[in-house]
Amino acid sequence: MRPDDFNLFQSLLKQRSGLVITSDKAYLLESRLMPVARKWQLRGLEDLATACRGRRDERLLRDITEAMTTSETSFFRGLKPFEMLRATVLPALRQARSGKRELRIWSAACSSGQEPYSLAMMLREAEPQWRDWRIEILGTDISSDILARARSGTYTQFEVQRGLPITLLIKYFDKAGDKWVLKPEIRSMVAFRDQNLLANLAPLGHFDLILCRHVLVYFDQPTRALVLDKLAKLLPDDGVLLLGDVETASGLTDKLRPIDGLRGAFQPTRGAAHPRQTPPATHPAAAVR
Ligand SMILES: C[S@@+](CC[C@H](N)C(=O)[O-])C[C@H]1O[C@@H](n2cnc3c(N)ncnc32)[C@H](O)[C@@H]1O
Repeated sequence: MRPDDFNLFQSLLKQRSGLVITSDKAYLLESRLMPVARKWQLRGLEDLATACRGRRDERLLRDITEAMTTSETSFFRGLKPFEMLRATVLPALRQARSGKRELRIWSAACSSGQEPYSLAMMLREAEPQWRDWRIEILGTDISSDILARARSGTYTQFEVQRGLPITLLIKYFDKAGDKWVLKPEIRSMVAFRDQNLLANLAPLGHFDLILCRHVLVYFDQPTRALVLDKLAKLLPDDGVLLLGDVETASGLTDKLRPIDGLRGAFQPTRGAAHPRQTPPATHPAAAVR
């Protein structure tokens, strides 16, 4: 690839999605952007770069951005964070919100929906405790293609075999040919919408719990700090932000601090300390005691 074409794609992606592509990842540009070039009936990446410089067609730029995102996800990804939510974070929020009986949860960068649907199944399994609550679960992503998949609630055999207990598969999914489709009772618990984390997030309102997992890792440090500051603003004092395994807010922002004993969980620095509890070792989807 010509250096000036590489630079063009690199700055386009950084600006539009926060994704940082270093020169050792040039092969990723080649493999993921060739299908975009073909879709737009262009001969290769050189022509694609020329088209970007010339037309600045929003649909073309969007196709390029979406092609470069990594959508890897799974039900109850990592398991332990969900166990922590079930055993500690959600009970604390339930107690704190018992007056209003309202809970807003945001799965930011939700990919094909496994993360918000895992939360929905977990809450449904604990239904007696949440009866008469108004619970909103919002899933957002930058990619409209991936959101269309999320909305469909349709998964392959491979996808339902990753992290989803067989009991929940049988209870909440219907078989449709070689696919599995989530039942409306779970699908209706989650709303999806387009949202770029680099854009203004204020219109989304406040959330008691935000999951922003396995996306900051693709950004550079200033972009991570910027996004974390914006997320902190959307949390009430006792709200919780959950990041991915290798992600942290420490050292990037003074607006968030780690919650003692809860790995990957942060709360606004202006808030009081979150009560620490020891989560029992059961699957998070098991009924909450
Ligand atoms: C690796 S997936 C993580 C999915 C899920 N959160 C999880 O942990 O399993 C990363 C997702 O982030 C989305 N993404 C990348 N850049 C984004 C941005 N600037 N704004 C919103 N979503 C973004 C991608 O489209 C992709 O679906």
